[in-house]
Amino acid sequence: MIARELISTPSFAAEVEQGLTSDPKTLPSKLFYDAAGSALFEKITELPEYYLTRTELGILQRHASAMAQAVGPDSTIVELGAGTAAKTCTLLRAFANRQMRVLYFPVDISWAALAEARERVSQKVPQAHVRPVVADFSGGFGFLRDLPGRKLVLYLGSSIGNFETPAAVALLRSVRNELSAGDSLLLGTDLAKDPSILLPAYDDAQGVTAEFNKNILRRINHDLDADFDLDCFRHVARWNAAQSRMEMHLESLEPQTVHLRSLNLRVKLASRELTHTENSYKYTLASVREMLKASGFSLQKSWLDRRKWFAVHLAQV
Ligand code: TRP
Repeated sequence: MIARELISTPSFAAEVEQGLTSDPKTLPSKLFYDAAGSALFEKITELPEYYLTRTELGILQRHASAMAQAVGPDSTIVELGAGTAAKTCTLLRAFANRQMRVLYFPVDISWAALAEARERVSQKVPQAHVRPVVADFSGGFGFLRDLPGRKLVLYLGSSIGNFETPAAVALLRSVRNELSAGDSLLLGTDLAKDPSILLPAYDDAQGVTAEFNKNILRRINHDLDADFDLDCFRHVARWNAAQSRMEMHLESLEPQTVHLRSLNLRVKLASRELTHTENSYKYTLASVREMLKASGFSLQKSWLDRRKWFAVHLAQV
């Protein structure tokens, strides 16, 4: 595997310090995905309330061959934030049915997830050649340029929705800048819908999402020698209609002071104070089209599930 960047870099500490000394407090969401966090997220994707993964998978299963046909032959497939590649096998199989050689580059910040991705794909789609890349997007997308052939970039799971729109456009644009004519992008986006469906998806009955959100504190305890007491925080999920996004927060249950020894920093939290950890934007077909256009892509086709809860879009450079 290619290690592009170490996970606990000095910028990690700087970002935590910056977030916890801001008003309101924030924590960088990329901290979710250490080995424990990636395993918890995998559990989220299997929750009855978390419709996103299985809805997207249904779309991919139903339309994989149409997608492969629309993309055209001889594409090298690069998946950003591949995780364990659970959804990708269907698509890889559809490509394997149409072309001689399928080259698949799963990219993720979690080494553990990539090891599982490689294992899974080798078993389920033996025709595919898998080359995992450990990378953090803050390092840019220069690695795309070095890959051979026509490229199809996959960015699934509505991960794009975890960025504010200007940052999402900047990300897609920097991907676009590494691509050439004939290359394409397959983008998964969650769609705006009734909050009675959205809220449980981000605050499940078993409390897995709460554990996932709090894992960020466990990670800071471990990596920055801090003393967050996880029992003194509550997971809060909110629907922000004006911004069309789900928001994740950690609420301090009492007045407390947390000590981050590696940073020589003491952070005071008031009772009920919120620390913002993540946003998950929910789109319309029009807002996706606009985001792609602003990034230098043109939307070719969108595939939706029957309930119109989720969409997978093919865009051309
Ligand atoms: N990309 C996922 C999403 O927006 C991330 C996610 C799911 C998440 N559940 C979460 C992030 C809970 C923070 C807290 O759906």
